[in-house]
Amino acid sequence: MVKRAKITIVGGGNVGASCAVWAASKELGDIVVVDIPELEDRVKGKMLDLAQCGPIERFDAQIIGTSDYAQVAGSDVVVITAGVPRKPGMSRDDLIATNVKIVKSVSEKIAQHAPEAVVIVVSNPLDAMVYTAWKATGFPTHRIVGQAGCLDVARYRTFIAMELGVSVEDISALLLGGHGDDMVPLPRYTSVHGIPVSQLMSQEKLTACVERAKVGGGEIVKLMGTSAYYAPASGVVQMVEAIVKDKKRILPCAAYCESEFGIGGYFVGVPCVLGAKGVERVIQIDLDTQEKELMDRSVSHVKELVEVVCQMDSSLA
Ligand code: 2OP
Repeated sequence: MVKRAKITIVGGGNVGASCAVWAASKELGDIVVVDIPELEDRVKGKMLDLAQCGPIERFDAQIIGTSDYAQVAGSDVVVITAGVPRKPGMSRDDLIATNVKIVKSVSEKIAQHAPEAVVIVVSNPLDAMVYTAWKATGFPTHRIVGQAGCLDVARYRTFIAMELGVSVEDISALLLGGHGDDMVPLPRYTSVHGIPVSQLMSQEKLTACVERAKVGGGEIVKLMGTSAYYAPASGVVQMVEAIVKDKKRILPCAAYCESEFGIGGYFVGVPCVLGAKGVERVIQIDLDTQEKELMDRSVSHVKELVEVVCQMDSSLA
């Protein structure tokens, strides 16, 4: 008998609810969305609403909203979206003091109720929150991973497709580094149905796509007054699918790198193989001098944020 996967999403706000929608529409498994007791009715209502899409969208899944962590038991994947989003004028780093407490607290509950799960973190500042979840769960590094690269590379691919007037599906690209404005899209590893992008687009236009992708989150915050949620959630569910179907997809994720890319023990965005066990392998690629410089700068920023986390809460050091 085939067992349905169980997917828990912590946080029933915009990102969490959108994760549930994408996961349900792809029929990836049963879904539990957990929120704080004060918001239990809201999350129960949202998930009842989503469950009622099943007959139309043709998915079979048990979908529930709750504030009871006992419901998380047996989850294969847990997605942490909990925390506050950005407001206009804020950087992701400005969220650190509030979100470190929230992510630590939910991670401890996850460790207690779903000790075998693969955990995907989406809360910001992303790379530091992945580190926080790792320390607070005590899980092995391959079962802790952050979603940022799937989103950032999707933005980059979208801008290139818009510029060239071709299908987004035909843009293949790679992006490294932390989930900040110093992330590192890699034009040298970007192609359009196998054709190097540099043959189809001027350097100037390519640079404009890279720069727009780097501040893509901020562009949306400015427009909406809060953080993006459809594409971040879509990035999460791309990872959830790779895990619950053991697809072994190569996706850019915030994964633990010991010696890879000379990172030395931090979670940073790198290409990795994602399957049932979580991060099964980090894929090392060659970087030229300039790419390496950009990567090193982004990694230093991640290290600074992790330092801040450790200073705020010595139990996470
Ligand atoms: C973004 O880049 C929410 O950090 C997320 O939109």
